[in-house]
Amino acid sequence: MDAHETSVDQDAFFKTLAEKSDGGTLRGDYSKADAQYVVRQDMAAYTPEQHALWRRLYERQARLLPGRACDVFIESLAALDASQGIPDLDRTSEALYKATGWRLVAVPGLVPDETFFEHLASRRFPVTVWLREPHEFDYIVEPDVFHDFFGHVPLLFNPIVADHLQQYGLGGLKALKLGGLSNLARLYWYTIEFGLIQSPQGLRVYGAGILSSGGEIEYCLTNKAPRRVGFNAERVMRTLYKIDSYQETYFVIRDFQQLFDETAPDFTPIYERLKDLDTFPANALLPGEADLGIA
Ligand code: PHE
Ligand code: FE
Repeated sequence: MDAHETSVDQDAFFKTLAEKSDGGTLRGDYSKADAQYVVRQDMAAYTPEQHALWRRLYERQARLLPGRACDVFIESLAALDASQGIPDLDRTSEALYKATGWRLVAVPGLVPDETFFEHLASRRFPVTVWLREPHEFDYIVEPDVFHDFFGHVPLLFNPIVADHLQQYGLGGLKALKLGGLSNLARLYWYTIEFGLIQSPQGLRVYGAGILSSGGEIEYCLTNKAPRRVGFNAERVMRTLYKIDSYQETYFVIRDFQQLFDETAPDFTPIYERLKDLDTFPANALLPGEADLGIA
C-alpha cells in the first residue's frame, strides 16, 4: 500500500518529529485530539496572566501594522475584536464562516502534513490552542495561538485568499502523492508565511510569520540586506529557506489574484521538472531578476 494513503497515525507523526528536532516532542497536549487532531479549546483554562500576555503581544504588534501590513489585513483584524484577550475560536469561526465559508478548528500544535492539507481542503484552518510563555515574547520555535490567530486568521476573511488556501490544501494532498511536498512547502513559506505585496503606497506585508513577528515586520521592509524579488511560483518552489533567522529573500506579489492565478495550473509537470534541477540558495538573485529594493 502507498504510505500516503494510510490514515495518519500519531506514532508515525511523533517519530518523524523526533528525527527533525533534538527533543522530538511537541509541547501541546495531543492526548485528547481526535483523528483529525482537533481538540476543544478550553477557554476556562486560560489564566488572567495568559490573557494579559496576549494583550501585550497584540498591542505591540498592532502598533507596528500601519504602513507595514497590507490594508486587508489591518481591516479584518480590527473587525475580529481580539485585542482584549485570547480569542474564543468558536466565536470567530462563526463570523469567518459567514464571510468566506471557512471555519477555525482548535489543535494541540503542529499536525501531520496530510491532516493539515485535509483541513485546508475542507476550508478549516487549524489554530493552536496554547500561548507562548512570557520569556518567548519575541521568539517562539513552534507556532502558538498568537501566531496562528493573529497572523493567519485575518486574511481568511479575504475571498481570494480563502479560495487560494483551499486550493493549496488540495494541492498538498496531491503533492504528497507526487513527491512534491518540499516544493509546495517552499511556496507556503515564501507566500502565506513570509510574503510581501505591492500597494500604491509601497511594499506591504501579508505573510503571517512576519505579521506576528516584532522584529521582522520592520526588517523585511527597510533593511538593505535581504532581497525582494517579484513572485514566480516555480522559482519559489526551487528556493531553500531558513527557519531560524530572518529571511534572506522576500517574494513580492502584485496582488492576491496573481498569487491565486499563478498557483492554479497543474503542478504535476513542475514537480517532475524540479526533481532533476538544483535548488537555489535562500539568498540567490538569478540572471534577469531585479532586486526591488526597499519600500
Ligand atoms: N495548482 C496546484 C497543483 O496542481 C495546487 C496548488 C494551488 C498549490 C494553490 C498551491 C496553491 O498541484
Ligand atoms: Fe504559520
